[in-house]
Amino acid sequence: MKIDGKHTRSIWLEPDGWSVGVIDQTLLPHRLALLRLAALEDAARAIRTMQVRGAPLIGAAAAYGLCLALRADASDQGLERAYATLLATRPTAINLKWALDEMMAAVRQQPRAQRIAVGYRRAGEICDQDVAINQAIGRYGLNLIEDIARKKKHGQPVNVLTHCNAGWLATVDWGTATAPLYLAHDKGITVHVFVDETRPRNQGALTAWELGQHGVPHTFVADNAGGHLMQHGLVDIAIVGTDRVTAHGDVCNKIGTYLKALAAKDNSVPFYVALPSPTIDFTVADGLAEIPIEQRGPEEITTVTGRAADGRMATVRVVPDGSSVANYAFDVTPARLVTGLITERGIIAATRTALEGTFPERAAAAR
Ligand code: MRU
Repeated sequence: MKIDGKHTRSIWLEPDGWSVGVIDQTLLPHRLALLRLAALEDAARAIRTMQVRGAPLIGAAAAYGLCLALRADASDQGLERAYATLLATRPTAINLKWALDEMMAAVRQQPRAQRIAVGYRRAGEICDQDVAINQAIGRYGLNLIEDIARKKKHGQPVNVLTHCNAGWLATVDWGTATAPLYLAHDKGITVHVFVDETRPRNQGALTAWELGQHGVPHTFVADNAGGHLMQHGLVDIAIVGTDRVTAHGDVCNKIGTYLKALAAKDNSVPFYVALPSPTIDFTVADGLAEIPIEQRGPEEITTVTGRAADGRMATVRVVPDGSSVANYAFDVTPARLVTGLITERGIIAATRTALEGTFPERAAAAR
């Protein structure tokens, strides 16, 4: 997608052909700073600290992280160590494990001398595959937007609510939840997006920045505004991303997604989840019981970071000293609250039958 009109992906190989470039997302939307990852630990740190974030991008960064590790040590032990280090960076998004498993399957059987080249090739394919998946999700999701637009009076916008950032910054390009929005906007459909702030990390600010760069009209709202907006008929459709979808269609996504789904159900607002197939975890049957929910540091809740009046980044405390804090990063929305899953193979029901029927090879591999 575009930064200042220039096409950019969220992750790329640097001109040296081996180190990896990413955008430091902890500084956006206030400052655009690029990072160069040159070693396993750089990649692991970038994922852990959320300089790179979003399920598909975490997977892509881990894939390249394994390549960087191979450059230093291409032995079996080095490979296993790198796999374990990267897998431990964040627990919830299954794309991380998916990408690492894909990489291991590609390089493990290779002689040591071949592993680096094969690894980089596979990591590049994982990135390109993500882009293709998101474009396909975009095309299917566009049909939903067009259906709503047809029922609107001329010039009235299709109002979409989204949570967190499931945009191009969270993927390699296009985004999952945002791909239909970009396609609709480019087609001349008037789309307007309500962007949830998404405390504590404010990923909504990333979504707002992306949409702004592409010229998509949007309104930034506090996390708790969604229910009110839906009650007043201001939301035509909710589209969110996901970090892991179970075999039965339960959706794990950024904390607060469940509450949006409940409000959507109560107000008969269609609630869709944009789901790239690497985010399906057919080994999990019960999302609530089995998906590990990341708990992050209390400082993410007790403080807010942003741009001060003098232009400098500043962090201020917003919680009284001494209060105990819990920082749950994700929640699980039961399949019964999900209107449909927008996948790269079409829009399907959030059910085991539909998921297995649409992705039989993934279901079989998990057995
Ligand atoms: O903690 P984050 O910012 O990595 O969480 C991101 C989300 O929850 C996204 O909605 C999800 O990864 C889907 S991104 C296409």
